[in-house]
Amino acid sequence: MSRIAYVNGRYVPHRAARVHIEDRGYQFADGCYEVVAIRNGVCVDAGLHLARFHRSLEALKIKPPMGDAALMTVMREVARRNLVREGYVYMQVTRGAAPRDFAFPAGIKPSLVMTARRKTLIDPRLIAEGIKVITVPDLRWNRPDIKSIALLPNALGKEQAKQAGAFEAWQVDRDGNVTEGTSSNAWIVTSTGEVVTRRADNAILNGVTRQGLIRVIAEAGLKFVERPFSVAEAKAAREALLTSSTNFVLAVVRIDDAPIADGKPGPLARRLGDAYSAYAASGGQDR
Ligand SMILES: Cc1ncc(COP(=O)(O)O)c(C=O)c1O
Repeated sequence: MSRIAYVNGRYVPHRAARVHIEDRGYQFADGCYEVVAIRNGVCVDAGLHLARFHRSLEALKIKPPMGDAALMTVMREVARRNLVREGYVYMQVTRGAAPRDFAFPAGIKPSLVMTARRKTLIDPRLIAEGIKVITVPDLRWNRPDIKSIALLPNALGKEQAKQAGAFEAWQVDRDGNVTEGTSSNAWIVTSTGEVVTRRADNAILNGVTRQGLIRVIAEAGLKFVERPFSVAEAKAAREALLTSSTNFVLAVVRIDDAPIADGKPGPLARRLGDAYSAYAASGGQDR
């Protein structure tokens, strides 16, 4: 099956999809994106993704390329044309193409690109075995809350994790606290059973999966607190987890060289993973 991409108003074969060499995304990383999980053919928490997308666009002063209903139509159509029942839609907007100049060119039209890909979101092996993370310094700018396409520190961190045989790199701020993964949010479960994740301030991306899991935790009546945690606290935690749209909820069983508890996925990771899967299967907060 040949893949289809959406590029500025047209559905084109993926291999022929192009934007201009002076697109500001290419030259300045001047744009933002969303990755929306597709489960049972349905976009999970599309409303939360669109809200975050608008927040990013506003922060970057980029005009929305089209209204939300049209964006939803294209998202569904890209998923449909690529036969994606389980996987994700990637949606990217840049300020557009214009002669290279740091300041925003007048009258520029945003570029919109969407692709879709099949992916197993709930991988039985990763769920059974859990995953390993390494820790790296957080090298990013001061606004990781904007889902910008400027992802070089994230790519460097992920490559370092890969070289170390790990699944993810947890980025660490100057105070020794974990901010988040390179493409996921970070969580721990304390010895008293409290589920902890960092507050969604400017230092992290407010993950849509993070927001969904907070809802799931509240519905399950579990203890939950938003606060920073250090690498040392994470290594000594009862359990550790990560969340993202492309992997939902995974147990972290090793941080650097420290096994978490007995080095196996803990009961809360499994329970939250199952509860989040059920939540996602019903469409998330749009249910
Ligand atoms: C830096 C970062 N943090 C967190 C996340 C998780 O966000 P979401 O749950 O919306 O996928 C991502 C997703 O790509 C990310 O890039």
